[in-house]
Amino acid sequence: MSTLWVGTSWKMTKTLAEAEEWAGGLRDHLAGSAPAGVQPFVIPSFTATTTVRGVLGEDSPVLLGVQNAHWEDAGAWTGEVSVPQAKDAGAQVVEIGHSERREHFGETVETTRLKVAAALRHGLTPLLCIGESAEVKESGGSSAFILEQAAGALAGLGEEELARVVIAYEPIWAIGEKGRPATVAELVDPFAALGEEYSGRVAGLLYGGSVNLDNAADLLGIEHVTGLFVGRTAWKLEGYLELLRIAAAHAAA
Ligand code: 13P
Repeated sequence: MSTLWVGTSWKMTKTLAEAEEWAGGLRDHLAGSAPAGVQPFVIPSFTATTTVRGVLGEDSPVLLGVQNAHWEDAGAWTGEVSVPQAKDAGAQVVEIGHSERREHFGETVETTRLKVAAALRHGLTPLLCIGESAEVKESGGSSAFILEQAAGALAGLGEEELARVVIAYEPIWAIGEKGRPATVAELVDPFAALGEEYSGRVAGLLYGGSVNLDNAADLLGIEHVTGLFVGRTAWKLEGYLELLRIAAAHAAA
């Protein structure tokens, strides 16, 4: 069975003190090793990258990420952070194309493609987020839409590069306070479509959007799902630890 990636983006939350407390609690809980079959990851705000790296330590089993990075290595791009800078701060994963960035910050299929390439060029793991709106879902076009987003961002990659990419399917209608949890039945077809194209070719096919302690086990049971990408439920450490337990039980079953 594939390794189950279970991680959280903190989005725009947490002070340094809160980041330290969460990361320190996770470090102490894991005591040097991830649960068998599970790859934990955490994606703080840029401000907390070095703090979390310091708390987790260099050899942590928890991968550390950033929520965005520019495609250029350096230059006159005010307000941006490059992949080499993220790497220098201790990041191993670059989240790319979250729907909140597509909606509010002009992320496009083309910029996601450039950012995936930049992450790979510097040896980091691109975590590519894809997902359709409620309107697209209602028109019956979910699978075609997300396949197109993925194909655009991954265009031109060889199989070895593709094998280093993690894809997170996060339907916009299921994300955040305004979202509603997806049912397993709603996710079967999109994951069948993603699985047909990418299963066994990428490092992970994750689900994200209103993952909680009640639905996590069922979501992990969907064919082709190899992990969970979580917001709110994991912002409290207890919630994240419980998700790791659920994933470990799934991996052991
Ligand atoms: P929620 O789990 O809070 O719905 O957020 C999901 C998400 O956007 C993770 O990237």
